[in-house]
Amino acid sequence: QQPELPINHKMQAVCDLLQSNVDTYDWVGFYMAHETEPTLHLWNQAGEPTDHTVIPFGKGICGQVAVSNKNFVVDDVHAQDNYIACSIHVKSEVVIPMFKDGKNIGQIDIDSNTPNAFNEEDERFLEWVNELVAAQL
Ligand code: SME
Repeated sequence: QQPELPINHKMQAVCDLLQSNVDTYDWVGFYMAHETEPTLHLWNQAGEPTDHTVIPFGKGICGQVAVSNKNFVVDDVHAQDNYIACSIHVKSEVVIPMFKDGKNIGQIDIDSNTPNAFNEEDERFLEWVNELVAAQL
């Protein structure tokens, strides 16, 4: 029996696996809420490095999901006013909140260089991924 990997290694493995195996998933990251401050912090990512490692609640797609507690599918990022660009190549994005004991503790964020890359199947799949991760936190 293999010993359990620490959760941060598992979350990194999830990012790497999704980014390298799903054609349209060009950037994958977990932003997690600070325990006391209203900010999101990038714990893990796969894809081009981003400068946006800390995002205040309310700012950008990620920050909006931190307060809405709802999935946010963006078919065309350029049509969004409250958007933080991490790469000029990105065309669409999905952010799915992660819940632990009913509390929004963070999110998975995926960027695609393909417009309109995410559908309900992606939402259901990523909700399931988040549940698996949250169960380990
Ligand atoms: N686009 C996000 C910021 C995070 S980057 O995509 C990695 C947003 O608007 O919140």
